[in-house]
Amino acid sequence: MAFRKDFLWGGATAANQFEGAYLEDGKGLSTADIMTNGSHKSSRRITYTMPDGTKKSQGVFPFESIPDGAKLECHEGEYYPSHQAIDFYHHYKEDIALFAEMGFKCFRLSINWARIFPNGDDAAPNEKGLEFYDNVFDELLKYGIEPVVTISHYETPLALANNYGGWLNRKVIDFYARYCETIFNRYKDKVKYWMTFNEINIMDFMPVFAGGVTKNDDQSKAQSVYHQFLASAKVVQLGHKINPDFKIGMMTAYGSTYALTCNPEDELLLMKSDQQKHFFSDVQCRGVYPEYKLKEYERLGVKLVKEEGDDELLKNGTVDYIGFSYYSSSVVTADKSKKVTDGNMSTSVLNPYLKATDWGWQIDPVGLRLALNRLQERYNLPLFIVENGMGAIDKVEADGSIHDDYRIEYLAKHIEAMKLAVEEDGVDLMGFTPWGCIDLVSAGTGEMRKRYGFIYVDKNDDGNGPLTRSKKDSFEWYKKVINSNGEDIHI
Ligand code: BG6
Repeated sequence: MAFRKDFLWGGATAANQFEGAYLEDGKGLSTADIMTNGSHKSSRRITYTMPDGTKKSQGVFPFESIPDGAKLECHEGEYYPSHQAIDFYHHYKEDIALFAEMGFKCFRLSINWARIFPNGDDAAPNEKGLEFYDNVFDELLKYGIEPVVTISHYETPLALANNYGGWLNRKVIDFYARYCETIFNRYKDKVKYWMTFNEINIMDFMPVFAGGVTKNDDQSKAQSVYHQFLASAKVVQLGHKINPDFKIGMMTAYGSTYALTCNPEDELLLMKSDQQKHFFSDVQCRGVYPEYKLKEYERLGVKLVKEEGDDELLKNGTVDYIGFSYYSSSVVTADKSKKVTDGNMSTSVLNPYLKATDWGWQIDPVGLRLALNRLQERYNLPLFIVENGMGAIDKVEADGSIHDDYRIEYLAKHIEAMKLAVEEDGVDLMGFTPWGCIDLVSAGTGEMRKRYGFIYVDKNDDGNGPLTRSKKDSFEWYKKVINSNGEDIHI
């Protein structure tokens, strides 16, 4: 058998994309709650109000800095998908029962920071918020499903963004550490697997998503991610003190990249692109800033503001494993005339050997095997694929059935690639949690129609729908995959 006996098969979600109940039981607003919907071709927007009361909005990708003094807030007449999402908050028992029916060994979810500390800097945590996750974890454990928790998944309490400037402000490290201390102590006997930040590398291009940072200049982004690195290192040490059995990982978006040709200029671009990609894992797995990044900062005029003891903190707070998302691969070339994909958020030079999803993400299972090998060779740490899947439009037949063979094919090929990485290349793989195991709001576009789930949720892009859950064909298929520990992946 390729996969280890305790392989963590499951599915992945994030609070702001599926919980809803955005102000219920004392929850505060988070940065995700002021993001409108968008589409494949038009970006989601954040809404804000200028000091003179003028209401404005700004696309999240590509992102331009928000003027000083602007207040991020909801505007009447706008649609914010996170507010109701798929209402997991009130459906968690039904949803978890379906996960259990598929045989999930684990379930990845995030804790919404603003449910625990509504303003981020509150004197005491919100007991109702803590109770909600107690209930969810208890429900999961009832079925023997291990929770895998992302501590911060694209949501910073909005008050921290408005009053402190988000992660650009060093004080946020302490607020985050207090939040972590609270949830580590509360759930120490229920949760073993943690990840400190979802896709920490998106700070490079989407600072509001990544940490409530409304400035888009090099210095601000570098300083903000520096604070996240310190915060992660701090809570890795804290977590291990609270429960030495905790496994605390990093989480990075990771796709394979190819040079379009053997022109040395293309190869050089590939090297640079790989450096951008590895910077985050280099710091979180090795505990030091790599030379190539320090040189880049010198060129850009970026000067990190550091305090005594920071270097030691980074060194002593490296992670236990690498969680990563893998959806597609990309191509680089020095030849500016080459066509690019029309991918939402992630664009790439077109790879002539690959097909793409309806949203322009190139499908590349072999790239996953390469990614696993590269990460293993570079860091020699256990790996966890915590996101993978294809966003697609599903058709509901008259009898209610949904024949999502394209999804099954995508996942089967990626599992096959994982298997080869384990069996032939000896990669140490802990588990696999396909993204959006139940349909949820797309992070990139805010849409519902970009669906990833084994479970269909009846809701439209305009926010209407009864939220009824139903099984797609992939539901039974994934059940079989888990039941055979990945041996039976055929349709
Ligand atoms: C990852 C994120 O980048 O990709 C998820 O961690 C996100 O939050 C997923 O949903 C898929 O992207 P999208 O834009 O299709 O939702």
